[in-house]
Amino acid sequence: MEALKKRILEEGVVASDQVLKLDGLLNHQVDPVLTMQMGKEFAERFRDENITRVVTVESSGIAVAFATAYELGVPLVFARRKKTLLADPDALSERVPSFTKGIVTDIMLSRQFIHENDRVLFIDDIIANGDAARGMVKIIQRSGAHLVGFGVVVEKCFQAGARTIREQGIRIESLVRIASLSDGTVQFAE
Ligand code: G4P
Ligand code: NA
Ligand code: NA
Repeated sequence: MEALKKRILEEGVVASDQVLKLDGLLNHQVDPVLTMQMGKEFAERFRDENITRVVTVESSGIAVAFATAYELGVPLVFARRKKTLLADPDALSERVPSFTKGIVTDIMLSRQFIHENDRVLFIDDIIANGDAARGMVKIIQRSGAHLVGFGVVVEKCFQAGARTIREQGIRIESLVRIASLSDGTVQFAE
């Protein structure tokens, strides 16, 4: 997605060889027009899949997941993050470490909002090591719903997350793929 690459070059801040700060467009501020374009792009790529529900994890995935759900005309459900998880027989949960925050959290999705006959599209902002994403994939699979695919705005190809998910046979669509952040420079893949 060329418009997104341009914005990343303009506004992304290479914080280290591993981390690209995208506060101006994903993680702090959101551009509604650009975000709706991202949603349209994901919706087009998954249009023929009869998606019934879009799922993400709070918080940074919500805006683009909303845009995608809006374009597909289906509900958006976002998994909640909990520091302490009260035993809830109705909730599906997974414990995941967070790469940027250095803490462990539980992500939780109520069975009320995901059903066996759902065809689910999972949307997220960035994939790095993929801990959060793998947790979300497990939750979707345990719900009995069919995971149609995973749409991610930024795939960091030099970290293992996306590869480990593709190896499970899950379709991933990335809007932008980043090959390297070495020397303070964003290098796109392909
Ligand atoms: P993930 O790949 O499945 O997201 O899991 P990982 O454990 O690798 O990353 C955990 C968190 O760190 C995610 O945010 C992810 O978006 C964020 N992250 C990883 N690499 C980068 C990066 O280069 N730049 C930025 N801006 N974020 C990065 P999160 O914990 O889910 O928090 P939130 O943003 O949704 O609140
Ligand atoms: Na996220
Ligand atoms: Na994030």
